[in-house]
Amino acid sequence: MNIDGNPWRTIWLERDGSSVGVIDQTKLPHVFTTISLSTCKEAADAISSMVVRGAPLIGVTGAYGLMLALQEDPSQSALERAYRLLISTRPTAINLRWALDRVSLRVGAVKESERVAVAREEASLIAMEDVAMCESIASYGFDIFKKLIKERPAGQELEPLNVLTHCNAGWLAAVDWGTALAPIYKAHRSDMQLHVWVDETRPRNQGASLTTFELSREGVPHTLVVDNAGGHLMQHGKVDAVIVGADRVTKSGDVCNKIGTYLKALAARDNGVPFYVAVPSSTIDWSIADGLSEIPIESRSEREVNEIQGALISSNSNVCRSELVGVQLSPFETRAHNPAFDVTPAELVTGLITERGLALANYESLKRLFPEEN
Ligand code: MRU
Repeated sequence: MNIDGNPWRTIWLERDGSSVGVIDQTKLPHVFTTISLSTCKEAADAISSMVVRGAPLIGVTGAYGLMLALQEDPSQSALERAYRLLISTRPTAINLRWALDRVSLRVGAVKESERVAVAREEASLIAMEDVAMCESIASYGFDIFKKLIKERPAGQELEPLNVLTHCNAGWLAAVDWGTALAPIYKAHRSDMQLHVWVDETRPRNQGASLTTFELSREGVPHTLVVDNAGGHLMQHGKVDAVIVGADRVTKSGDVCNKIGTYLKALAARDNGVPFYVAVPSSTIDWSIADGLSEIPIESRSEREVNEIQGALISSNSNVCRSELVGVQLSPFETRAHNPAFDVTPAELVTGLITERGLALANYESLKRLFPEEN
């Protein structure tokens, strides 16, 4: 993806082949800076502090984290310790376990002297596959957008397609392309007229800080709205489709995604707006069926709710981009509760856009696309 004309991915092997570069997402959109991760502990900290975030990227970072651990100590006990450390960083996105299992399985089958190379190869493969899956999601999602435009009443075909998204499921959440934003990029590059409503996504404001950053850099028309505006926009016919990503999808099609997604799905259902979830197969958890009772929901710090971070604005409205400040929103004694994700039941989901095509949110339909799974 482009940042000021330069192609970037969110994660890469540094030239030395033994450290891993990432974009520090905690400072975007005001400060663009990268960090080099050299140890497993640094990779784990990057995931838990949300320097890197988004289900697919968390998975790839975890995979490279195992490589970094094995560089320090290639023994089986070190591998298991690193696995435990990395898996404990963020509990909800299934991509992390999926990626750690893939690397562990391959590494466990070879001699200690070969482990670093094998971990590097598998982590890089996971990163490459993520790009391919997201690019394929882009194409299938674009087909859905084209269909939505075709089905419009005569005379409205040239109006921009209004798409609402929640959180950030763009390339910053994956390695490249992203999931929910991938069809949007594809459509925009294919000259489709579209406009994106971006939910701010409190408390971490991934929409306000990251989705807007991405869409601005690609020149995609968009408007930022507060999280509570979506229902109103849908009631007034200003949303043609909702598209979000996911942190975990059960085999029966329940969708766990950023807190607030469920409310958008309810509003979409009430207003006859299609609600799509873009999901690479690495996000499907085939071991569970009931999202509400079986998905661990990450509970994050109270400070994320009580405080907010941004760039300092001077009295003449100039933004000092490099000076990021945090401010307290609530009385200092106020306690906050901060569940980071919620579950949207399958019956509210119009369709799951996977790298193999569109599935209905149920086991039979998912299984038809992924017959190798149980
Ligand atoms: O807490 P985050 O920022 O990691 O949450 C990310 C989301 O909820 C995304 O919408 C989800 O991971 C899908 S990303 C392709």
